[in-house]
Amino acid sequence: MAPLNSPDLPHSGFIQLYRRDDDAIRAELTAGLLAEQPATSPKFLYDALGSKLFEAICELPEYYPTRTEKAIFDARLHDIAKSTGRGSTLIDLGAGNCAKAAQLFPYLQPLQYVPVDISVGFLKDAVESLRQRFPQIRMTGIGMDFSSTMELPPVVRREKRLFFYPGSSIGNFSPIEAATLLGRIREACQSDGSLLIGVDMIKDKDILTAAYDDALGVTASFNLNLLLHLNTLIGTDFHVRDWRHVGCFNESASRIEMHLEARSDVTVRWPGGVRRFAEGERIHTESSYKYTRQGFLQLLERAGFAAAQTWTDERGWFLVCHARVA
Ligand code: AVJ
Repeated sequence: MAPLNSPDLPHSGFIQLYRRDDDAIRAELTAGLLAEQPATSPKFLYDALGSKLFEAICELPEYYPTRTEKAIFDARLHDIAKSTGRGSTLIDLGAGNCAKAAQLFPYLQPLQYVPVDISVGFLKDAVESLRQRFPQIRMTGIGMDFSSTMELPPVVRREKRLFFYPGSSIGNFSPIEAATLLGRIREACQSDGSLLIGVDMIKDKDILTAAYDDALGVTASFNLNLLLHLNTLIGTDFHVRDWRHVGCFNESASRIEMHLEARSDVTVRWPGGVRRFAEGERIHTESSYKYTRQGFLQLLERAGFAAAQTWTDERGWFLVCHARVA
């Protein structure tokens, strides 16, 4: 697909590189629903309502990651900026409303800001208002699926690339997939780039479980909304009331798992498939891996990054790392 903007535009703009492939989505979901262990990718949690429910999750008393990471950035921004330096090409992976990166601008003073998300549509309003506040920063929004490629268009400076991947989004990938993704980031760093990344840490099981099974039931709604999304995406006939949310910590795999569990025997039909679920049978909808500091540093090293500088909160619940290429 041809970019919407000429790649040699020197200043600001948007480039949409990803195009949704409905046949591929239908095939992927059909395979997942028919598998012996039914599963769907966590990306399907984020339709319009799902994204709003995730924002609500971030406000929950039990969901500590967002506010803990923010507290680390608030308290340590001076040191973090010392480590990253100024004048970077700040590449914000999964930028969304760009709020986390914007918080860094006054300290990091990037030369170019490159928010990346699946659709530039999500980025437009946020980037327009950031342009007003920070007219000296070149801004280029990119619509691409960076989980499949990290190849950035030529408009993105090659010098001093600083990849920003906050929120423990890396936790959605298995350690092997995470190593692959980090390896691609490492390649895209060229020789002088670096990575600023936030990761959630292993902690008391009750605290972890509560964060993914909150008292208000917002996480349950977020998970169950997947069924409504699938109904519109591929025409399944899920009834939300037939399913219950399960959020649990799998200690041996060091990951939170979200599942949807059938409350009774149910049959689900859609163009392209039919499946009977027995009472108690589950669809695995998300994994969220948790790390030790040592474990995550090893993963960074395996991906080709050198020993990172790290910052944490006083409880050691969340970790921010700045890693240079080895
Ligand atoms: C956006 C992937 C970081 O794993 O904590 C929150 C998503 N799922 N509650 C996480 C999520 C359930 C979140 N990430």
